[in-house]
Amino acid sequence: MARARLSYADRADVVFEASPVVSLLVAAQRAGAPLRHDCGGKALCGTCRVRVDSGSFSPILGRERARLDAVGAGSEERLACQARAGSDVEITAILPLSPARGAAARPE
Ligand code: FES
Repeated sequence: MARARLSYADRADVVFEASPVVSLLVAAQRAGAPLRHDCGGKALCGTCRVRVDSGSFSPILGRERARLDAVGAGSEERLACQARAGSDVEITAILPLSPARGAAARPE
């Protein structure tokens, strides 16, 4: 079983068990680690984006590639709802857990 460390800009890191057969989003949810996932994990919103800090991951497939391109994600970003850990990994949440109050809406 691999280990994942999820870092946030505004809260303490969470470490949880990850697996090559379960998405990072599902593994995080099972551990109670919060991560935005506005479309419910269907690769439609991009809010679950994480920055890859270290480790190996499943390949980026068609739906994930399309969503990453659509939101202008950096080359080091993955969708937590699609990516699976291939080793111990370290990732950082890109978006805050909820939009800042009063902030202008911005496409994801
Ligand atoms: S939860 Fe929407 S793209 Fe991952």
